[in-house]
Amino acid sequence: MSKLLTVYAVGGGMLGLTLILTVFAQCFWQTSQGDRFDWNSVKATSTFRWQGCYKHYQCTRLKVPMNYTNPSSGWAGLAIIRVPSLFPTTSPSYQGPLIINPGGPGGSGVSLVLRSGFHFSTILDGRFDIIGLDPRGIGRSTPQVKFFGTYSEQALWLDGEYPDALNSSTEVLPRSIARAQLMGHLAEDQDDGTLRHVTTENIARDMLSIARANGNDKLQYWGFSWGTILGVVFATLFPDHVGRMVLDGVIDAEDYYATLWSNNLLDTNKTLQHFFQACVDAGPTGCAFYAPNATEIASNLDRLYDMVKAQPVPVYQARTYGLVDYSLLRRAVFTALYSPFTMFEPLAQGLADLKAGNGDTIYSLVNRPRFECADAEDFQYSNQYESGTALHCLDGDEVHDSPAELRRFYEKMTEYTTLAELWAVVRIRCSGWRVRTKRTLPTKFGGRTSSPLLLVSNTADPVAPLWAAHKTSKWFPGSVVLMQDAPGHCSVSAVSSCTQSNIREYLLNGNLPNANATVCAVDEGLFKGNKRRADTEAPSQQLPLVTHDTYLNDIRRLRDSFPLALPT
Ligand SMILES: *[C@@H]1O[C@H](CO)[C@@H](O)[C@H](O)[C@H]1NC(C)=O
Ligand SMILES: *[C@@H]1O[C@H](CO)[C@@H](O)[C@H](O)[C@H]1NC(C)=O
Ligand SMILES: *[C@@H]1O[C@H](CO)[C@@H](O)[C@H](O)[C@H]1NC(C)=O
Ligand SMILES: *[C@@H]1O[C@H](CO)[C@@H](O)[C@H](O)[C@H]1NC(C)=O
Ligand SMILES: *[C@@H]1O[C@H](CO)[C@@H](O)[C@H](O)[C@H]1NC(C)=O
Repeated sequence: MSKLLTVYAVGGGMLGLTLILTVFAQCFWQTSQGDRFDWNSVKATSTFRWQGCYKHYQCTRLKVPMNYTNPSSGWAGLAIIRVPSLFPTTSPSYQGPLIINPGGPGGSGVSLVLRSGFHFSTILDGRFDIIGLDPRGIGRSTPQVKFFGTYSEQALWLDGEYPDALNSSTEVLPRSIARAQLMGHLAEDQDDGTLRHVTTENIARDMLSIARANGNDKLQYWGFSWGTILGVVFATLFPDHVGRMVLDGVIDAEDYYATLWSNNLLDTNKTLQHFFQACVDAGPTGCAFYAPNATEIASNLDRLYDMVKAQPVPVYQARTYGLVDYSLLRRAVFTALYSPFTMFEPLAQGLADLKAGNGDTIYSLVNRPRFECADAEDFQYSNQYESGTALHCLDGDEVHDSPAELRRFYEKMTEYTTLAELWAVVRIRCSGWRVRTKRTLPTKFGGRTSSPLLLVSNTADPVAPLWAAHKTSKWFPGSVVLMQDAPGHCSVSAVSSCTQSNIREYLLNGNLPNANATVCAVDEGLFKGNKRRADTEAPSQQLPLVTHDTYLNDIRRLRDSFPLALPT
């Protein structure tokens, strides 16, 4: 699960504010200054009609049935973007389309391609068309899920939603339960009848439609976080249409469809322990929050939680201001667990500064720009919060828990990690959900796929435990789990020539790593003072490990562009 719920704002600085609440993956709306494209002008057609967009890309809108068993009942219009292959379609080096999905649910594949598409293309030698899709309901596709009439209304709602770590005060949990009821009404009232078609199952069908529109009978796919559930659903529904498929940051699909989201956090504590230990190893000059042992750092962090709970720290900066309070501090820590290789150092610095009374650094780790009234005509309504909520509540079993049951559910989750207070709200939200649909998925996931899946997992992923990758692998005979010995969410949170060489070899040539020798080390330390982990056992099979600097830099650029962030 690429990202919990974070309300984030981004954009090249030209939007008033883009609020995105991400469940797994943090995706951004806007790429860089001036890059805009009028998606409304693109007519949905049942074949691809690529046109230039955003200067360096190609875009099209594909018309697909809203309901595949009743194709005359209306249409969805999928916004699709691509970085074309460097090779002409007639070249033997051309390998066709590869769809990438950033997770969420609610994440935008178009935004992912705008941020990272060229980096994906580069590490795969330019042999694929790198395709990003805004799944139905999401972003630039139609229908667009909305619970609010205007962006301002959405922003005001999210402002009430934002800081609430469930244990930040006694009111937060009961209020979250009550707000879920309100949200259920809002969603139902804004629904024009299309909401029930916004399901992962239909999105999987849409991916097959995209492959076919491209002239292919099989899907080539690299999905992250929630995108692994989309992959599992696709492979279950269409085992004969699986081309190469990489599922990266694997989530337990059964847990997701039970609307529990409780198995996500099995390795969260382990990920946090990496922070403490790496800080110890980095020494007092390498880690700003240093103490001689991990236990000591953990209790220093606990003292900071108590400190800001008793007295939040005000932050006043040039373009924004706010408080570092208990919830924000918890979010900063959880957020850093997604991207340890880029965030552990600033986190340590931020904690040290906070201890000294300065909240600036911590605040900037999870900062939202201030809301400005921005319902301007050029504003693109970001609906990640709404589409993500709609998808996971529509997909999952109905939640009829009483408030007392929801509280017990949350308390049970805190046995794995107290950071569950930023996560249990995912199930709670669905307790007020009212729009229903009919699930037609087989009751069991899995199948004999026409080509084997490659599952990729970090050994300490804060929201996608390694256990889930092994569990998923059992559903798909012939699949292999590739482990990356690192903390963080999804393989792209770290730089590992071993991991990426294995993924390359699979995507380019169809060769899976040896199932018994698939732990990849990473090529960098968590803190500058850390030695890089000794030493990188390449999988025992002789795989063409690509290690040259240019390639490592390409992987680094992919890591730095890939949107990962935590939940609200
Ligand atoms: C889709 O169409 C079929 C056939 O008309 C119908 O039985 C089914 O309920 C529809 N699905 C939804 C979610 O409306
Ligand atoms: C929640 O907060 C209370 C009061 O501060 C504390 O006693 C309790 O241990 C906390 N629970 C969790 C799971 O962190
Ligand atoms: C950790 O370090 C502190 C001193 O900073 C010491 O008191 C404590 O015993 C140490 N704990 C362990 C488990 O080594
Ligand atoms: C987290 O891990 C540490 C170190 O292994 C352990 O001492 C602690 O009890 C764990 N916490 C939870 C909530 O499991
Ligand atoms: C993989 O490990 C299993 C169990 O340890 C063993 O039976 C099998 O022969 C190994 N396969 C290879 C290809 O090494």
